Amino acid sequence: MAPLNTMIANSVKHAAYAGAQVARILWYTGHYAAGRRLMGPLTEPGEAPYAEEFLPLDRQRLKDAFRAAFRQDWKNIEAGRYRMPAELRRMPSLPGLIKQSRDYLRDSKKVARRKHARGHSEVLTRTNTKKYPRYFLQNFHYQTDGWLTAASAERYDMQVETLFTGAAGPMRRASLPLIGDALRGKDAASAALLDLGCGAGRFLQGVKENWPQLSVTALDLSPAYLGKAQAALGRWNDVRYVEANAEATGLEGGAYDVVTAIYLFHELPPLVRAIVAAEIARLLKPGGVLILADTIQHGDEPGLDILLENFPRGFHEPYYDSYCRTDLAALFEVAGLKQENETLAFLTKVSCFVKS
Ligand SMILES: C[S@@+](CC[C@H](N)C(=O)[O-])C[C@H]1O[C@@H](n2cnc3c(N)ncnc32)[C@H](O)[C@@H]1O
Repeated sequence: MAPLNTMIANSVKHAAYAGAQVARILWYTGHYAAGRRLMGPLTEPGEAPYAEEFLPLDRQRLKDAFRAAFRQDWKNIEAGRYRMPAELRRMPSLPGLIKQSRDYLRDSKKVARRKHARGHSEVLTRTNTKKYPRYFLQNFHYQTDGWLTAASAERYDMQVETLFTGAAGPMRRASLPLIGDALRGKDAASAALLDLGCGAGRFLQGVKENWPQLSVTALDLSPAYLGKAQAALGRWNDVRYVEANAEATGLEGGAYDVVTAIYLFHELPPLVRAIVAAEIARLLKPGGVLILADTIQHGDEPGLDILLENFPRGFHEPYYDSYCRTDLAALFEVAGLKQENETLAFLTKVSCFVKS
């Protein structure tokens, strides 16, 4: 049995974890409820309801899976698999929260208007089509400005946390133990990790908090999101930022021990997924590992399949349904990456693939 002072310290830490998480869940659930009211039902008045392929939502399973993700997150922290994240260690600033909340709620009205009008091509301009692939130029989730502006990048984390009522942190962190496994027996200072589609940099914050010596490259096609990631990761001045398409990164081949792709693949059309898979295989060292975290797929949580079916109807997600039906093992096998294991964290599945 652990000594008494260790047990007390652990209980205090657990209480701090639970308190911070309850506050976050309440905060994001409140915003979720407000956003849902604005968005309204899936179909417009007078429209026929969607024909549903799956069984009704198993609400108890949804709650259980939500709680299980937090329980696992705590277990990982307790076992030292990763540190208590900064977002739970520090009190957020009240003016910062108020600003975030106002911006989110104001913008939600625009998102709702876009959803009612099925408006998802506002960022498709003649100038943009010269620079970016067509699939990238959409208002995914009916978001304002697509991936293209600093305001969108600034708002992104709040939108993701709100969508998952505070569970995005535990879901992203479910990938961290796999990084620990991939680096076992290696000197982190001489290992390299590349995050494809790094977005606003939230995942890489967790990586750098835990492996500060690890050489990290953050890649995104959006200069605005890459800029936000750079600001979020400002504490670490050795992170490399690359503005490039994940299909053809221009980076050196065989250079990475770990490649991560967090919520990137469901945003890519099916044929592009195969191209990015091949590029990942090119970038990894032999024995290197791809850690893919993305939505759960059909059949992973049968009682929740209806959520996956309806999500792309309520939020503009043109490639989501096909992603949910993709055989991931086959997709990456063709590229030369063999599936090792997978684990679920609420609505996220983390899968690990190894380059032979
Ligand atoms: C849903 S966000 C995920 C961001 C982040 N990984 C996270 O954990 O939230 C998808 C990101 O992928 C980027 N992206 C989309 N298509 C891309 C491509 N072909 N190449 C590189 N980045 C891309 C977008 O700009 C956006 O930042």
